[in-house]
Amino acid sequence: MLDTLQRLPDDPILGLAAICREDSNPNKVDLTVGIYMDESGVCPVFEAIQQAQQTLVKEETTKAYLPPAGDADFNRGMRALVFGGDSDALAAGRVSSIQAPGGCGALRIGAEVAYAAKPDARVWISDPTWPVHLPLIGSVGLEFSKYRYYDAVSHGVDFDGMVGDLKQAGRNDLVLLHGCCHNPCGADLSLDQWQVIADMAEQQGFIPFIDIAYQGLGSSLDEDAAGLRLLAARLPEMIVAASCSKNMGLYRERTGCAMFLCESADNADAILSQAKVAARRLYSMPPAHGALLAGKVLNNEQLDRIWREELLAMCERINGLRSQLVDSLQASTGRDFDFIRRENGMFSFLGLSEANVRKLREEHSVYMLGSSRINVAGVNAGNIDYLSKAIAAVL
Ligand code: LMR
Repeated sequence: MLDTLQRLPDDPILGLAAICREDSNPNKVDLTVGIYMDESGVCPVFEAIQQAQQTLVKEETTKAYLPPAGDADFNRGMRALVFGGDSDALAAGRVSSIQAPGGCGALRIGAEVAYAAKPDARVWISDPTWPVHLPLIGSVGLEFSKYRYYDAVSHGVDFDGMVGDLKQAGRNDLVLLHGCCHNPCGADLSLDQWQVIADMAEQQGFIPFIDIAYQGLGSSLDEDAAGLRLLAARLPEMIVAASCSKNMGLYRERTGCAMFLCESADNADAILSQAKVAARRLYSMPPAHGALLAGKVLNNEQLDRIWREELLAMCERINGLRSQLVDSLQASTGRDFDFIRRENGMFSFLGLSEANVRKLREEHSVYMLGSSRINVAGVNAGNIDYLSKAIAAVL
């Protein structure tokens, strides 16, 4: 039976990272997977997480299962982090949440619950979006429509196109929005534009499904959640998938959270029961380690302060790298790359052709996705000149 199956192509992001790992060129530049790397090219463990880990090792007395909704401290901390400590919806008990295996697990649980509520709901996704949104959400059984999002000419959001397409989103359709730091293009909505999306959601009755995997890596934790919070203050319902992979560096610990803003506290409780049944069907209980660490950081004043400072430093470094990259690319190529400065988070589309991307890889060992998406956080003082000169050479 198994011998009837063919080998599938490698994942476009992880497969490329694997090819890069095999490359023996000492000058290779890895701009593939969205992980934060410091000046020495290492993805560091946050100091706050290290301290929480030491405490956890001392305190932990069992490895028995977590409850199906996960760790209560983690859930409470995540709800406040995303919706804001002063959120009326939180105070009214209108938000329920479930710990999930990473942001991916949270997206999947969100989609499962949406499917249970409305199996024929259409999911509107930005063009482009993170490629894994499609299999993660689509395999639940929901159908997709695309809305225009990125304008390759202006290197910004095609907001007229987005609004034009979303006019067709119907009552109880889902509109998948990137809360901040759009993956793959780095171009985000302004607060005025979020306001327009809120107006449309109110009038048309579609439900925002927000992927906020990069909170804290664009401007700050609060600014990056401002669009989401604006919607939460106005709308009756919303689904959110949050992740601690990037903003706490817990990538391999698979630490995420699915949240449901509901019309009432009673409904939030009913939805949590749906999410728990979906989790049980898929993987039973979430992994503990990352969520216990994140829960400690979010609920301990001192650890929380250390973490926020570290995250802000990381965010400022990425924004600094954006400026340095603009200067370096403009000096090497004579072309305008100023748009990189206007984007947020880890990603940017450089606007290179697939042929040039291939040449960069084959001739210079510079690795980026075929779309020319780069992980800005993979740039450092040691590779920026090499990278800019390689790009100039292929252009
Ligand atoms: C990325 O887009 O590179 C990250 O979100 C990692 C992944 O799983 O694809």
